[in-house]
Amino acid sequence: MIQVAVLGYGTVGSGVVEVIETNKADINKKAGEELNVKYILDLRDFPGDPYENKVVHDYNIILNDPEVVIICETMGGVKPAYDFTKQALMAGKSVCTSNKELVANHGPELIQIAKDHQCNYLFEASVGGGIPIIRPLNYSLTAEKIDGITGILNGTTNYILTKMDKEGADFEDVLKEAQEKGYAERNPEADVEGYDACRKIAILSSLMCGKNVKYEDIYTEGITKISSADFKYARQMNKSVKLLAMSRDTEDGFFAMVAPFMISKEHPLYSVSDVFNAVYVHGNMLGDSMYYGRGAGKLPTASAVVSDVVDCARHQGKTIMCFWDAENVKVTDIGDAKRKFFVRVKADQKEAAMKAFGSLAEVSVGIAEEFAFMTQVLSEKEFNEKIEQAGGCINRIRIMA
Ligand code: HSE
Repeated sequence: MIQVAVLGYGTVGSGVVEVIETNKADINKKAGEELNVKYILDLRDFPGDPYENKVVHDYNIILNDPEVVIICETMGGVKPAYDFTKQALMAGKSVCTSNKELVANHGPELIQIAKDHQCNYLFEASVGGGIPIIRPLNYSLTAEKIDGITGILNGTTNYILTKMDKEGADFEDVLKEAQEKGYAERNPEADVEGYDACRKIAILSSLMCGKNVKYEDIYTEGITKISSADFKYARQMNKSVKLLAMSRDTEDGFFAMVAPFMISKEHPLYSVSDVFNAVYVHGNMLGDSMYYGRGAGKLPTASAVVSDVVDCARHQGKTIMCFWDAENVKVTDIGDAKRKFFVRVKADQKEAAMKAFGSLAEVSVGIAEEFAFMTQVLSEKEFNEKIEQAGGCINRIRIMA
């Protein structure tokens, strides 16, 4: 029997226990041995819970129990998860986590410690919830040079943008409703400002190039400036607005960013709606492939954690190769990145905008106070110069090619 401990009995932690219990026959068969949750670490007690007698408050009980060989870290945050994970790995216990913050901050170090102690640090649930994306990048697409990843990696913002698109509602109203329904946190900053998607694309980018992409180096813009008027224009152009997290490995350098983009109906990410996530991967031999599913939520995320537990059970005493070195990647400044931009200025700026941008394509939805247009392909630097010459704008959204 393989003894497992779960750190944190919150949404994902309780999901892990539920997945192991619900699918025990299948999971045990696939793991090759019976899995048993021996301990659940939490500060709280859970009177009446079917697993209340497994709850412990002292991490040392788990750390010092030689029977426990796999630990699920579902606490979130860097402290104390970092110390607990390090201690577990140094004791030769494998750790499976959903904690993107910890993985984005300390991934290469923890992977190396696992390697040094013949155990594993696995993090399938840290990106895209239940969608298998870490495993495909790490084990399946090993014949590829992956040169592009574009993802919708945050369920909360995708839900908000989908509602704004379908209902013509404004950001603040939809956010309020999403908070009431529990789809958005009371403090929504990490989601709506793009920080959550930034950490996730940092993890995927690191796996893409086998080195460390620091999330602090990734240009990040959230969705708080997107309005119902932007969606009116987008619809007029057969497009929608999505928060995209992307990275590209090009001859000119490594490039990554998170920002709202207008994407057209033909793009496979256009139809990814509500809380769903998707990751669109380009490999030099395979071409495009896409991974789609529930990017958040108790059971989908827990399912990904348990899939890692099964992998650890199958590889006891062995480290599964994971190419993510500590060497930092130089992330190129986005100033040279080229694309078209959708722009809204005040009606009285029309002439100045036409002079600054030269060739442009007007987009009209009957908002008399505004002049809206699509630019030619420009670098970010060129765009910033021209929009300054035109006297600034109401909003601008990048267009996905
Ligand atoms: N807040 C995250 C999201 C949860 O909305 O996608 C999953 O990481």
